[in-house]
Amino acid sequence: MASHLTHSNQYVLAIVIAIIVFTPKLTSAKKSKIIGLKMNVIDKCWRSDPEWRKHRPQLATCSMGYAGKMTNNIGEDLVHYKVTDPSDDPINPKQGTLRYGASVIQGKVWITFQRDMVIRLMRPLLISSFTTIDGRRVNVHIAHNACLMIYKATNIIIHGLRIHHCKPQAPGMVMGSNGKVMPLGQVDGDAIRLVTASKIWIDHNTLYNCQDGLLDVTRGSTNVTVSNNWFRFQNKVMLLGHDDGYIRDHKMKVTVVIRHGYAHVVNNMYLGWLQYAIGGSMEPSLKSEANLFIAPTSGSKEVTWRKVGNTNGNKWQFHSVKDIFENGASFKATKGGYVPKPNYNRDQAFKVADAKSVRSLTSSSGALRCSKTSIC
Ligand SMILES: *[C@@H]1O[C@H](CO)[C@@H](O)[C@H](O)[C@H]1NC(C)=O
Repeated sequence: MASHLTHSNQYVLAIVIAIIVFTPKLTSAKKSKIIGLKMNVIDKCWRSDPEWRKHRPQLATCSMGYAGKMTNNIGEDLVHYKVTDPSDDPINPKQGTLRYGASVIQGKVWITFQRDMVIRLMRPLLISSFTTIDGRRVNVHIAHNACLMIYKATNIIIHGLRIHHCKPQAPGMVMGSNGKVMPLGQVDGDAIRLVTASKIWIDHNTLYNCQDGLLDVTRGSTNVTVSNNWFRFQNKVMLLGHDDGYIRDHKMKVTVVIRHGYAHVVNNMYLGWLQYAIGGSMEPSLKSEANLFIAPTSGSKEVTWRKVGNTNGNKWQFHSVKDIFENGASFKATKGGYVPKPNYNRDQAFKVADAKSVRSLTSSSGALRCSKTSIC
């Protein structure tokens, strides 16, 4: 219900998930490539500028949804930092490494990469507030060990990375986001994990094959926009506001699960799923709007799942508005009641596209390949 948004707890989950492609494990489905595609509103804001490389920070003005505009990340005091060294030292990061830029440098920093690289993080990367990681025009993989974590931080942009084969991490010491070494407990193998994070924009990343989920937004995080990403070959993709320990215990195969709070799921393409595409427990409010749901050829055709048997299980609010269902897909929506509104302010509001254009809108989801002439 909308009342969640005005709850006295400032960290009630508010997330928008837009223009994303979800492809499950065990499909041979390939991302559709459409020539002459229509750019979505976020992309149009920077991709149509042939000189975007000269104006990288302009990206910060292109976001929408709960994160709002990321203009706190730019300005005259912005530090430009280039990653030249793919190595990683979690305690004493060397200058030139990603960890030095993301954890040691405080204040506004815009991180780019000198060249293509595979970064194997030795410990989770704790990203500090006002950091932008901009992987455009290079092919940067964060892979094969620890991955990204946003812990008690705000105003962060993660753009254009390929994050995969993330593995759980044992407790240990790591450079904290305040530039001081701190102990960090056991961490699951998620690609991106948000803990007490706010105003976070995750755009145009390709996430796959991680040992846990791909994106874990825990309760205590809010004002998050997840746009233009490609979540591929994964069972558990997104877990929003977890705290009843249910999903992990049962190794469910899911795409989006929301607990508590509010999620606006907009203009995404779901290309099959194993058990369900959107699940919920603990009174979540969800507005699924103008998405394209293509059911798997065999197995469950139902998009939703709800946890029953707990005291709150029947108070869920799942609404489907202007979604398109193909291949027999069905959506068990909450009957009656009103559809909870996202209540966006001016910076957050955006135009929802028609579900018919979702195929072309999502055709460039994931980390972009930019040509030598730098058109993305
Ligand atoms: C979330 O965004 C709203 C609207 O911009 C703002 O009023 C609120 O303080 C933000 N919450 C947090 C925890 O940053």
